[in-house]
Amino acid sequence: MRKILVAGNWKMHGSKAMVRELLEGLLAGSAADGKADLVVFPSFPYLSLAESILSGSHIRFGGQNLNPHSQGAHTGETSGSMLKDMGCHYVLTGHSERRSIYGESDHDVALRFEAALQAKLHPVLCVGETLEEREQGLTEAVVGRQLDAVINHLGKDALRKAVIAYEPVWAIGTGVTASPQQAQDVHAFIRDKLRSLDDIIAGHLRILYGGSVKGSNAAELFAQSDIDGGLVGGASLTAEDFLAIYSAVS
Ligand code: 13P
Repeated sequence: MRKILVAGNWKMHGSKAMVRELLEGLLAGSAADGKADLVVFPSFPYLSLAESILSGSHIRFGGQNLNPHSQGAHTGETSGSMLKDMGCHYVLTGHSERRSIYGESDHDVALRFEAALQAKLHPVLCVGETLEEREQGLTEAVVGRQLDAVINHLGKDALRKAVIAYEPVWAIGTGVTASPQQAQDVHAFIRDKLRSLDDIIAGHLRILYGGSVKGSNAAELFAQSDIDGGLVGGASLTAEDFLAIYSAVS
């Protein structure tokens, strides 16, 4: 049985005051023995504050990106071992904003995924198609290619410690959510693809849906058999909104 994971990607939002208020609100409104695991992804400058507030609690946190190298002359970059040192358990890899705005290729994402595993972090591999790709009937081809980039580089066993997030680009930050059936169809495609490689990994792997998840649509999404939680952007920025999603887990 896969436990639901509700994760908040704060993107480039926040301040010390906001981080403190949000995390204290989440701690007060959730429980270690709750029905879902909770993870937040603050911006790098707030990881230390997150660590001081969340240390020893049931809420995990992670970085939004990492450099493929473990150290060296890479001004402005952050390594997996640094994230681990700050108490992170997770790191996002291949978010569509990294792919589209910062030019990360499928191979770049695979290298980051590899670096995450080397640092003993759980990589959250984000995949998803654009609206144009969906309209051309390319959703499975695109998502399959994004998965293959990691599997071909590292082998299927690399997925044992991973989480996958299906985030259709057209649903991110738009208020347009994939219907539960649209999301379930792609999640089932991902799980079937993995099942053809390894039944046990496919059965354990959590596949999150991301794209305009809110308190009002979370229950129906999470009720789908292959949707194991959400990667939430906008609605993860206040404790009230994020806890509404957490509370939707039945
Ligand atoms: P929104 O929930 O704001 O659509 O963002 C989704 C996302 O990109 C999470 O990584």
